[in-house]
Amino acid sequence: MSGINYSEKIPNNVNLSEDRTLQRALEHWQPNYLQWWNDMGPDGSQDFDVYLRTAVSVDPQGWAQFGHVKMPDYRWGIFLNPAEQDRKIHFGDHMGEAAWQDVPGEHRANLRRIIVTQGDTEPASVEQQRHLGLTAPSQYDLRNLFQVNVEEGRHLWAMVYLLHKYFGKDGREEAEGLLERNSGNADNPRILQAFNEKTPDWLSFFMFTYFTDRDGKFQLCALAESAFDPLARTTKFMLTEEAHHMFVGESGVSRTIQRTVDVMNELKTDDVGRLRAAGVIDLPTIQRYINFHFSVTIDLFGADQSSNAATFYSSGLKGRYEEGKRTDDHVLKGNSYKILSVEDGKLVEKEVPMLNALNEVLRDDYITDSKGGIERWNRVIEKAGIQFKLTAPHKAFHRNIGSLSGAKITPDGRVVSEAEWNAKVGEWLPSNEDRAYVASLMGRVVEPGKFANWIAPPVMGINRQPVDFDYVRFN
Ligand SMILES: [Fe+2]
Ligand SMILES: [Fe+2]
Repeated sequence: MSGINYSEKIPNNVNLSEDRTLQRALEHWQPNYLQWWNDMGPDGSQDFDVYLRTAVSVDPQGWAQFGHVKMPDYRWGIFLNPAEQDRKIHFGDHMGEAAWQDVPGEHRANLRRIIVTQGDTEPASVEQQRHLGLTAPSQYDLRNLFQVNVEEGRHLWAMVYLLHKYFGKDGREEAEGLLERNSGNADNPRILQAFNEKTPDWLSFFMFTYFTDRDGKFQLCALAESAFDPLARTTKFMLTEEAHHMFVGESGVSRTIQRTVDVMNELKTDDVGRLRAAGVIDLPTIQRYINFHFSVTIDLFGADQSSNAATFYSSGLKGRYEEGKRTDDHVLKGNSYKILSVEDGKLVEKEVPMLNALNEVLRDDYITDSKGGIERWNRVIEKAGIQFKLTAPHKAFHRNIGSLSGAKITPDGRVVSEAEWNAKVGEWLPSNEDRAYVASLMGRVVEPGKFANWIAPPVMGINRQPVDFDYVRFN
């Protein structure tokens, strides 16, 4: 079951050839997908041979095979984790009942919406990152970008499979829509705002893969608990791919910091002007990028109070992060949870029914997880003997969704006036100058084993290859 059939036009482990209607629908969608990849995928790179990993089975051991592939020839397909026998719904009002192998009529609209919203983020990030190849700091990094891109493309396949197989004509229309909306398009944008932002430079890319792909991880973890078994199985396999994306982000920021602290020690300075003259990204700028990406990403979890979140949970569509490891009753009626709001110019906590606060629960789990990497970045600074600490901004900082939306709150959690916000925002969020400076560092480095001046090389290469391996052959 876990083996993947690569002999078919669409690689799969779902016996696609036995479902002719589905096979035909997907084969009809496939050329449109490839057209989208050509138009909106990595710019100018269709002919490169890239050292990519491809899934050969969904087993935890050895699912990956590495080799040079042209990206348009990457074997995108449909891979689900094996079915768990007699799987039961383990939260919400249907707890204890058999997991659904099909979509119950009363949950059809909500499930479709959940799948489309998740599916929309996958091609969106490929679009956001499409120009980055032109300014890659090394072949190693270029390869990692492309690996992330092809896997986001496969995540789109995963969601389109569910739409085609379980949602009939509306599902097929939604699958077309996923190729028609475009990141940042004024007339037909992507569904979620963070996926319409630009990813203009490599520091943004690393921050995006650290913070925003981690939002993906938490959403997928919540969907991996779903009573709708095909969704749970699809997202479980997507999670194995997601781990690499967050690694690219965490190690990318870490190497950026490493290079900065090395130069700080060489020049014995923390003067921003001197560091910029030396061509590295000063730590205060890195902090402002963290503040931006952290705050934009935590908005993705949605409003702090949401009746949809309660419905999704109680009806079994979407669980909590690590639902199975929690020891409460998994129904949550009568439980409460603390959320934040601004009252009389102060941040206050208030208790609300937990079911309505499940977006906030997931956001808080995400925040705990994302702080781990920031601590690991701090160890790089500490090890260099430099006094500087990066921090996650307060959860209320720079929010645009929910009860904190539009409130003026500093990264350390003080409510301030509009005037103070405007005077200080340049210390808290990347300014135009910061962005222009970071942009000025971006230049393409293509020689194997060479790295742009602003970033340190990685400790090791991909799949035990040397760092100076030819990860990308430009042809
Ligand atoms: Fe993804
Ligand atoms: Fe991802």
